[in-house]
Amino acid sequence: MHALRCSMRRALHGQAAKFTVTPLVEANFPLSPLDLRKFGLQVYPEFISLEEEEALAKDSRAHLYKQPYEAGHWDAVIMDYREIQRPISQMSGLSQEAITRALKLFPAGTTPLPTLHALELKPHGKILAHVDSIKFSGGVVAGLCLLSHACLQLTPDVGGVEEGRAPSAAAAAQHTTAPCISIHLPPRTFYMLTGEARYGWGHAVPSDTLTVNGEEINRDTRISVMLRDELPSLP
Ligand code: OGA
Ligand code: MN
Repeated sequence: MHALRCSMRRALHGQAAKFTVTPLVEANFPLSPLDLRKFGLQVYPEFISLEEEEALAKDSRAHLYKQPYEAGHWDAVIMDYREIQRPISQMSGLSQEAITRALKLFPAGTTPLPTLHALELKPHGKILAHVDSIKFSGGVVAGLCLLSHACLQLTPDVGGVEEGRAPSAAAAAQHTTAPCISIHLPPRTFYMLTGEARYGWGHAVPSDTLTVNGEEINRDTRISVMLRDELPSLP
């Protein structure tokens, strides 16, 4: 499943968020909620019920537990995790209800993939900045967030979307001033990246402690149920 992600290999540290765009979204540059929509980021807190969260976590764990945890090697985008792919039709009724509601928000003209990708991150597990492979899925990258608060950070993709291409030294040197959008993802949030947010920017999930309204929150074990769409067919 490594192929799902193309590494951006870029540090995200030192990017203080200054502007609150919505209660869950901050940026280190001025940005309006309307810009955010055009940019292709949508965030829906409390999208699923506690019961649906439990069902999705239980259904995912029934298969996740058969996988070993992977530590990630030097070139890895993701560390301390395990993951599975499952047909959506094989999830329980309650899980499928939540997923169907999420898939209804996919843009018109897209075809959701019939399989989901569930990813469990240990409390210190993290995902470095990357762009999802453009070879295996289309223009929608969406996630249902379960069990733990987390932060999703978006930064412009300096490496391009070719597999394994490293950023230029000049681009890497600019990282402290690069624009960064930070999205707080409480459990039961649904988020969707399309357009510029999916193709032009990388996304990352750091393992760091989050500060929410001045309060520090530690990341715990987190499961995300990732939903994507089919590659558009050629005309
Ligand atoms: C991925 C990814 C984000 C998340 O699996 O490619 O970016 O919210 N996941 O877990
Ligand atoms: Mn990704």
